Amino acid sequence: MPVLPATDETIAHAAEALAAGGLVAFPTETVYGLGADAREAKAVAKIFAAKERPQFNPLIVHVPDLATAETLAAFGDEARTLAAAFWPGPLTIVAPKRPHCGIADLVTAGLGTIALRVPGHPVARALLERARLPIAAPSANRSGRISPTEAAHVAADLGDIPDVIMDGGPCERGLESTVVSVVGDTPMLLRLGAVPRSEIEAVLGHPIVLAAKDAPIASPGQLERHYAPQTPVRLNATRVEPDEALLAFGTNAPNGAVTTLNLSAKGDLTEAATRLFAALRTLDESGACAIAVMPIPDEGLGEAINDRLRRAAKAR
Ligand code: TXA
Ligand code: MG
Repeated sequence: MPVLPATDETIAHAAEALAAGGLVAFPTETVYGLGADAREAKAVAKIFAAKERPQFNPLIVHVPDLATAETLAAFGDEARTLAAAFWPGPLTIVAPKRPHCGIADLVTAGLGTIALRVPGHPVARALLERARLPIAAPSANRSGRISPTEAAHVAADLGDIPDVIMDGGPCERGLESTVVSVVGDTPMLLRLGAVPRSEIEAVLGHPIVLAAKDAPIASPGQLERHYAPQTPVRLNATRVEPDEALLAFGTNAPNGAVTTLNLSAKGDLTEAATRLFAALRTLDESGACAIAVMPIPDEGLGEAINDRLRRAAKAR
């Protein structure tokens, strides 16, 4: 198994693996990423092969800072405002790609735009600093599976496909980054995520809308059935059947489930976000015939949590 604690030595080894065209799984504050040198089409192709991912799905490029981001994309005032407020951190900005920026076309799926993120996790930052190359990285799971928030999840999904899996402990946020496009006249939300919509609106000083699923600008990777456990998921459950597992939230959890996991007994949405994907994985392995999910308030981070749960519940 290539799982190694994220020491300085491992980071140096991982940086070498990236420079040699290899794949490195690394922790970020959102979820674990599966990284490759974004300038090398051959290396990036390995990501798609590992994930068994449809090739039209463009990847986020991780960079150490705003200055590096601006060498790859054209940032206007609102993009800079967002970067200043949220980087390093769990926000991805989609902006017009600079021609000849050196990023492999496979990363952007041939689009004229590029998704950029400056991660806040110290291990991700150390890797970027050491490797000195832009890192293309989707979540380190097989396509259609639940995103990994622990190194063990990556190992369970990808085995020894990555050259290194760096273990930096459980991810602090537990939800993927929020994706905002600054390509059009006004910024658009392409994916709900770890930065709540209200925080983005507060920084911009105006409301921001979520791009419609079929809008031409919409995030091409937003496949409907995305965060799917093998076990069927039943939403807004206020009671459980005896053969069901329960994903609870708050104090009023009904009794009688095969297994119950509470996302946050005190009803804290931040805590719930952190635990969501690991809890879905655990309940998926419980042998229950379905996962019943209690209602989650649709405010703040609850909006992104409910988005992931709806996708998990989509019939296959
Ligand atoms: O938190 C995260 O964002 C994690 C960590 C590893 O950074 N990464 C992640 O990557 O979630 P991925 O590949 O699973 O999701 C990338 C999202 C997809 O929804 C994709 O469609 C969108 O970003 N995206 C990437 N490039 C885009 C572009 N040029 N235009 C529109 N959407 C884009
Ligand atoms: Mg993903």
